[in-house]
Amino acid sequence: MVRAGTPGGPPPLTSLGAAYSAGASAWASGPAPMYERLAGLLVKFSPVPLGGRLVLDLGSGTGAGSRAALSIGARVIGADLALGMLLSGRHDRPPAAVGNALALPFGRDAFDVVLAPFSLNHLDDPAAGVREAGRIGGHLVASTYAADDDHPAKVAVETALSELGWRRPAWYEALKSAMAAWGTVEGTVAVLERGGMRPLAVEPRAVEFPDLVPGDLVAWRMGMPHSAGFVETLDPDARRSVFGRALELLGADPVPLVRRVIFLAAAAVSSSHVQGARLPSAG
Ligand SMILES: C[S@@+](CC[C@H](N)C(=O)[O-])C[C@H]1O[C@@H](n2cnc3c(N)ncnc32)[C@H](O)[C@@H]1O
Repeated sequence: MVRAGTPGGPPPLTSLGAAYSAGASAWASGPAPMYERLAGLLVKFSPVPLGGRLVLDLGSGTGAGSRAALSIGARVIGADLALGMLLSGRHDRPPAAVGNALALPFGRDAFDVVLAPFSLNHLDDPAAGVREAGRIGGHLVASTYAADDDHPAKVAVETALSELGWRRPAWYEALKSAMAAWGTVEGTVAVLERGGMRPLAVEPRAVEFPDLVPGDLVAWRMGMPHSAGFVETLDPDARRSVFGRALELLGADPVPLVRRVIFLAAAAVSSSHVQGARLPSAG
């Protein structure tokens, strides 16, 4: 679903795709290692076997989910709204198509599993995305950010950027509200059910990143697409100064990063592979 954006500007969906596309190299050198690890954990969590199955890595970005699924023997195709993300490292990646999660260019039951690490939570109409995943695949295995996912690096980088004139893009504000639907176990179960899929497992996880030093944390936030476009416009001195200012605001000894996420698996109602549910009682 495309919502109206800023007056006279492009709608958020177009802006979001463009920001991810343009920010692909910043992603690869900032957030990517963290997402690589999260994708590996998601694949391990999956109650649905992926080995030997045909898997769509939906919202594949620079390919973290694809690599994790390939490593356990899945056959993988990628899809993403952002061509730039798909072009990153394309010589070493499975075939992929540009596509919108709300209207994918694949037929009914084309895949055994739709693997969607941190992508369906970008949709304005999350149930419509779940319904589309259930149309093209027998199972959905995905991850979202929990409502309490936070770290002081977020404020430090936003403050340092704002001092140079950065403002949150309209698409990013819209995205933050869209993500709220998936922020709890109960919310995630409700989204899956509204989208016509049967929840199999919905689990909150706290994933620790004790190895990340302050510079890594600042690079993570500066490499996210809502900041990368602005950073790109800065000359090297200004980039260094915003990096240094964010480090100063963060302090020499910040709390270690713990990403609070929700892993989920669901079956299409027509699927013949439905397993017992594994749902905790609270998020
Ligand atoms: C947070 S990144 C995650 C990338 C990758 N899955 C990973 O875990 O590293 C979100 C990805 O979802 C993609 N995305 C967002 N909205 C989408 C949509 N409507 N259809 C397809 N892809 C979308 C973005 O372009 C981006 O590549």
